[in-house]
Amino acid sequence: MDQEALKKLCAEAALAFVEDDMMVGVGTGSTVNHFIAALAGRRSRIAGAVSSSEASAKRLREAGIPVLDLNGTGGCDVYVDGADEVTSQLAMIKGGGGALTREKIVAQASRKFVCIADASKLVAVLGRFPLPVEVIPMARSLVAREIVRLGGRPVLREGAVTDNGNAILDVHGLSIVDPVALESALNQLPGVVTNGLFARRPADVLLLGTAEGVRRIDRSPAGVTVPSQ
Ligand code: 5RP
Repeated sequence: MDQEALKKLCAEAALAFVEDDMMVGVGTGSTVNHFIAALAGRRSRIAGAVSSSEASAKRLREAGIPVLDLNGTGGCDVYVDGADEVTSQLAMIKGGGGALTREKIVAQASRKFVCIADASKLVAVLGRFPLPVEVIPMARSLVAREIVRLGGRPVLREGAVTDNGNAILDVHGLSIVDPVALESALNQLPGVVTNGLFARRPADVLLLGTAEGVRRIDRSPAGVTVPSQ
């Protein structure tokens, strides 16, 4: 099975977490696009969707799924999103598609976070994938210098403007052994809007698309993961 087929497999498995009348948070990216296509078949049974990007909002509307402003909801029952890297503790690097800030907001506002990813995204240590950091444009150089001090090699994502009108620095050369600490440290830098580490609010469930089928990993409240099969 190719990577696209594995993405589709785990995306369709996420439908099992969508119940009638739920408010569904929807992430961004090629894996989520498969989820949106699958969710279209349930459009009349859900309360609606909250989108993490303009791109996903457009796809949702095209699929006939009502898109709501997060402020008008009491949060989401479930949030389904992909990842660029994910550990077995369900900490992630996200933001390859540039939607990290809204993704982190919707994730935080959701009662359950289901991460969907093909098997290539599972890693022992985060950091091979360059860590995206969304920055206020005037603080780009300041933040880049601070990141160098923290041991990273920031590269400006040329031409990228986020849905919030900001720039993205992709940080290379990190081996992130303590993702919670680095997530917090980066958030302290003036000019940083969000960074792509999702460790303080990790996923609750990972659905991994593998050649053998969908492998489910649940995060226990203590942070110990429990393979379900
Ligand atoms: C977008 C994201 C995506 O979830 C991440 O980049 C994975 O994308 P894909 O499903 O296309 O591999 O964080 O900002």
